[in-house]
Amino acid sequence: MKLIITPDSVGRLAAAYVKDRINEFNPSAGRPFVVALPTGGTAVEMYKNLIAFHKAGELSFKHVVSFNLDEYVNFDPTHPESYHGFMRRNFFNHVDMPPQNINIPDGNAQDATAFCEAYEAKIKALGGIELFLGGVGANGHIAFNEPGSAFGSRTRVVNLQEKTIKDNARFFGGNLNAVPKQAITMGVGTILEARHILIMAAGANKAQAVRAAVEGKPDTTWTISALQTHKAAILLADKEAASLISAGTAYENALS
Ligand code: GLP
Repeated sequence: MKLIITPDSVGRLAAAYVKDRINEFNPSAGRPFVVALPTGGTAVEMYKNLIAFHKAGELSFKHVVSFNLDEYVNFDPTHPESYHGFMRRNFFNHVDMPPQNINIPDGNAQDATAFCEAYEAKIKALGGIELFLGGVGANGHIAFNEPGSAFGSRTRVVNLQEKTIKDNARFFGGNLNAVPKQAITMGVGTILEARHILIMAAGANKAQAVRAAVEGKPDTTWTISALQTHKAAILLADKEAASLISAGTAYENALS
């Protein structure tokens, strides 16, 4: 895993990295670029910049196939705070990705286990995830793999922890009762199979998670620490998120 600490906006640098990866890959109908996409405040900034690249004619999503990391269970997908709603509003409505290329977990699937298996099978059939993009929860979760998630875990239904429900209450007018309590998420094992991984961490409330990711041992208490076992993972942190990293570990770099 490579740590990059930037004084710049994490979302802007992440978008530049994504653009380079997609354009270098030069996807076509027969060879699409498979990307895993996150939600969250940090991701919004990345999407804004990706949309700007698209509008400037520098980036097309025509041959990109996306799989969202997670979605709430038993929650209306037309609700603006569903991850379906988030993705439409912040990204899909503004780029040229064909609707049939978009995959988001169905939190209302009758048979959730069968749905999760089919989701994994579809990723596999497309040759696996080329680039996994994610954020990190204050408790170190990646996608919705809460502390204690096995590093070999696959796409499944999970219970959200109290810390995550509290963090997400800001999207529901601060009302804890309105926040869904379960989600479907890609597993840590699913994530670790991606060929490239970029995790974005912005803000001081991610500082403990970033320290655990970089200076701790790989440990399910902080699922983000699983990235240490991956050959091509990048953790992109701003100064606030990296503020608990000891000076000897930190170094500054640029993405391109
Ligand atoms: C949610 C998502 C995670 C994401 C996290 C961080 O919990 N399920 O995948 O990493 O939000 O969000 P933010 O960037 O808003 O802190």
